[in-house]
Amino acid sequence: MLLKKIIFASHNAGKIAEVKEMLLPLGVEVCSADDLDLPDVEETGTTFAENSLLKSKTIAKYTGIPCIADDSGLCVDALHGAPGVYSARYAPNRDFAKGMDKLLDEIVKSGNPSRKAHFSCVVSLAYPDGKYELFEGRVDGIIAEQKMLGANGFGYDPIFIPDGYSCSFAQMSHEDKNKISHRGRAMQKFKQYLIDNL
Ligand code: IMP
Repeated sequence: MLLKKIIFASHNAGKIAEVKEMLLPLGVEVCSADDLDLPDVEETGTTFAENSLLKSKTIAKYTGIPCIADDSGLCVDALHGAPGVYSARYAPNRDFAKGMDKLLDEIVKSGNPSRKAHFSCVVSLAYPDGKYELFEGRVDGIIAEQKMLGANGFGYDPIFIPDGYSCSFAQMSHEDKNKISHRGRAMQKFKQYLIDNL
């Protein structure tokens, strides 16, 4: 195996759990930024790829261990792609219940009847020598009229209904969400890269 141990440069407990679960079958040990008490890297980029690379490259150089990072967000057609790379900051005080209310309100105020949206994710793998790879994933869907609370998920999951489903991401099991989610799809490409580079 090319990589036995990697760092996942994230402090987001929901994402860390998803990524550890996805890479477990490959026997890759995933340490999170929390496990190693690593500092936060500021997301100053304007694209998902830029932000993802800022995090993975900085941590790989800092630790000398290959590092993956992701940047992701929700892009809403009626809001011209917002909140996009600003999805985390869009929620007041990172309170996603308030963030979802704000989003539902802004869609109504936009006067645009479209409920179309997609989640995008760019996973980057950076090596300590500066080399890197990018893996992209996207899932299309619609924004629900109101929150559809479920036992699972995080962030905007309760208002996102993926195409072909009648339930929100928050109402799906982690396993089912991982199969079709933006992060799941980007991670599938990353997994394939690991398998191809045995
Ligand atoms: P970042 O990728 O850590 O910068 O955060 C992106 C933000 O987009 C998260 O804080 C969530 O609000 C949102 N987001 C990204 N992926 C998901 C997801 O799978 N479900 C719900 N919200 C998500």
